[in-house]
Amino acid sequence: MNFRTLDDADLAGKRALVRVDFNVPVADGRVSDDTRLRAALPTIAKLRKGGARTILIAHFDRPRGKRVPEMSLRPLVEPLSVLLGAPVAFADDCVGEAAAKAVAAMKDGDVLLLENVRFHAGEEKNDPDFVRALAANGDLYVNDAFSAAHRAHASTEGLAHLLPAYAGEQMRRELEALDAALGNPQRPVMGIVGGAKVSTKLELLDNLVDKLDYLAIGGGMANTFRFAQGYGIGGSLCEKDMAETARGILQKAEARGCRLILPSDAVVAKALVPGAAARTTTLSAGAGLADDEKIFDVGPATLKEILDAVAASRTLVWNGPLGVFEVPPFDKATMEAAHRAAELAKAGKLVAVAGGGDTVAALNAAGCADDFTFVSTAGGAFLEWMEGKTLPGVAALVQ
Ligand code: 3PG
Repeated sequence: MNFRTLDDADLAGKRALVRVDFNVPVADGRVSDDTRLRAALPTIAKLRKGGARTILIAHFDRPRGKRVPEMSLRPLVEPLSVLLGAPVAFADDCVGEAAAKAVAAMKDGDVLLLENVRFHAGEEKNDPDFVRALAANGDLYVNDAFSAAHRAHASTEGLAHLLPAYAGEQMRRELEALDAALGNPQRPVMGIVGGAKVSTKLELLDNLVDKLDYLAIGGGMANTFRFAQGYGIGGSLCEKDMAETARGILQKAEARGCRLILPSDAVVAKALVPGAAARTTTLSAGAGLADDEKIFDVGPATLKEILDAVAASRTLVWNGPLGVFEVPPFDKATMEAAHRAAELAKAGKLVAVAGGGDTVAALNAAGCADDFTFVSTAGGAFLEWMEGKTLPGVAALVQ
């Protein structure tokens, strides 16, 4: 992919408009996970070192074009400045007088955070007037928000057409890692996909069976596949109306030579509570589970099959947990697969890339996110990328 990076830019004295993703989880008014703040640090450091003036543009939540005080970015100034080890100024608006004044007061190396860009309706509409208003405060544009690149908004897409545009360091790392995972992967390449519903991951599964050598399906969505094949799944979560679709994916996988790994056994219980009386059962047509039993994790035979496929692969791309990892004992398969992938990645034997909120939480719970080759900060953007879609924020950067 051909895009300009900060290594190609003349930065000294320039006003750099930098789109970051500071859509961070907040609990009781405090940032509960600062991963996305930390992700922006390399770009900010590079710009400061080069003598640029860093003007950060970000959204928080979905205020839908109105000023919503609870969605202000102001509470991020302090944690960001602590992480940066430098002061961060704040402008009460991302365009107009407040922004212009704050930018005019900057010196080379300074950092300024602009108020939530989604307080203006023009952002999500990618309105040309709003794009121009944003661009008025910059000499160049840096997109460092891969995780918002599936949005064709003024600050994620429009600005790239008005100002000289560059990929930030986090954007560059994301694109390189994702290319190594699905663009030009070392083979065999394996996917692990979990999550509750087939319906939300249909396009993703459809795209993956075209590209992968192995695809393990876990989580609630695996029940729908087994149901579609006539297996007994008791009272488990299942989208019965997706059975035909699931059969279509099974057929396509076979035609394309993608080996699907679906649960042959499962850990089941009557209730989803920590330490529930769980048992392991083989899944088969017509038998296995009582009507009031539910599947909450894949069983040991399935896990072994998954671990063997991970060991046989050179590349792994993972989205979605295999079981209800938040509630032991149903965390076992997700934790063991995470550890195995991390070990292999650490030993240089596997390129292991993961993304999506639940997956990252599971890897963090397993304590092995750092050993993965790359963990994406993106949720929706990672999914759309796995679906094979062109992300407008990325496309706008490509020369
Ligand atoms: C995210 O949190 O995934 C991104 O910041 C995009 O947010 P959005 O779904 O509100 O556009």
